[in-house]
Amino acid sequence: MNTTEFRKRGKEMIDYVADYIETIEQRSVYPDVQPGYLRSLIPEEVPVEPEMYEDVVKDIERVIMPGVTHWHSPFFYAYFPTASSFPAMLADMLCGAIGCIGFSWAASPACTELETVMLDWLGKMINLPENFLAGTTGCGGGVIQGTASEATLMSLLAARSRIVRWIQADNPDRTESEIFSKLVAYSSDQAHSSVERAGLIGGVTMKKVPTDEKFSVQGEALKKMVERDRRAGLIPFYFCATLGTTASCAFDNIIELGPLCNAAKMWMHIDAAYAGSAFICPEFRPLLNGVEFADSFNFNAHKWLLVNFDCSVMWVKERADIIGAFKMDPLYLKHDHQESGLVTDYRHWQIPLGRRFRSLKLWFVFRLYGLRGLQDHIRKQVLLAKEFEKMVRDDQRFEICAEVILGLVCFRLKGSNELNETLLKRINSTRKIHMVPCQLSGKFVLRFAVCARTTELHHVRESWAHITDLASELLQELPH
Ligand SMILES: Cc1ncc(COP(=O)(O)O)c(C=O)c1O
Repeated sequence: MNTTEFRKRGKEMIDYVADYIETIEQRSVYPDVQPGYLRSLIPEEVPVEPEMYEDVVKDIERVIMPGVTHWHSPFFYAYFPTASSFPAMLADMLCGAIGCIGFSWAASPACTELETVMLDWLGKMINLPENFLAGTTGCGGGVIQGTASEATLMSLLAARSRIVRWIQADNPDRTESEIFSKLVAYSSDQAHSSVERAGLIGGVTMKKVPTDEKFSVQGEALKKMVERDRRAGLIPFYFCATLGTTASCAFDNIIELGPLCNAAKMWMHIDAAYAGSAFICPEFRPLLNGVEFADSFNFNAHKWLLVNFDCSVMWVKERADIIGAFKMDPLYLKHDHQESGLVTDYRHWQIPLGRRFRSLKLWFVFRLYGLRGLQDHIRKQVLLAKEFEKMVRDDQRFEICAEVILGLVCFRLKGSNELNETLLKRINSTRKIHMVPCQLSGKFVLRFAVCARTTELHHVRESWAHITDLASELLQELPH
């Protein structure tokens, strides 16, 4: 493909994408295919001779689209949102075109510098304490990770190396492996599975702290566990707080937990994967109060801030903790400015070496929406969730199962878990709307997360009508 053809095909592709987004709600939100559906639709081997572009494009509708779950359909209410906007898609194209691997400042200075400045912009948008920002005299700074899972793992590994360093400073005879065997990390019993996984990968015990009736960890619960473990000769070193849990969007009490972690010399990481974007609105910012006690903080701009996947933003108060934990410096990666104190080499902040120019997406989205446009988006989706909550509360057959704070509504039919499982199965098998369940206090609960940028009140009303129709049918089938 030469540049002349690229220009033509590029314009056609933009048209295809625009049509896809514009007409997406006419497609079934959930695909009707069986496992292995795709293999029989394409050849067993790669073509030896080049094919025609038209033939490839034809296969998008024949091979790919039948197996796509349409996350950007206004009828998609599963998991949490994954963000999408045209400015972010255009920035992603430019990122692909520049195609640099920005592992160090020298590997592409703009890639590194824009990232540092965008993380400062975003830090200011959510009113992060100054010491998390790079552009101040503090020792902090921000980085784009691929996912919240990676951010949690990085924070845990940095905390692990910090505690070993601290202990060995006073007790040089204690070996790393002996210390490792005594380390204990903690997270909410509502934390995302990626937190438990970070413990597994990091080779440390991860204990679950029980939550209260609002699914939130309180200081006392963590304190009890930490004291018990210390008495048993263990070394508590890390706590991962969640702001906006996956199941019900609950918030741990970081105002209590933070000082406790600081006093116990435990690293506090905050996972706000979904809820973090909402903190750009002053009315939701109080939910982040207590972040001043944290060592690291992360959220997925690719969930709710109109920046397409992947773009998980993470800040640390002491960048030396993270850089120092994993520093490798082979000759082929060195450059003249690395010890100048003026540049960041992001390869030290993450697990892979390579990294894309993801900050372009933040730059385009911030400038083309403005803070106000992004706040409008968050507020609109929260309002839609509140409208849905009202509809549920107005129907006596249903109950709300957790406080609705942001864009997620947890609800169920009053009755057995089996009844609700059947209802969800029927909802999803019609493929008109798509939702996933969660379990809260032993109950099977339906989650309605406002996801797509294009979801409007009429979509929410239509979806509720659909849910209640299916519920009525189901209830009529029950023996009276
Ligand atoms: C609270 C929370 N943490 C972590 C994750 C994992 O996110 P990622 O896919 O970015 O690793 C999720 C995913 O929804 C989440 O809700």
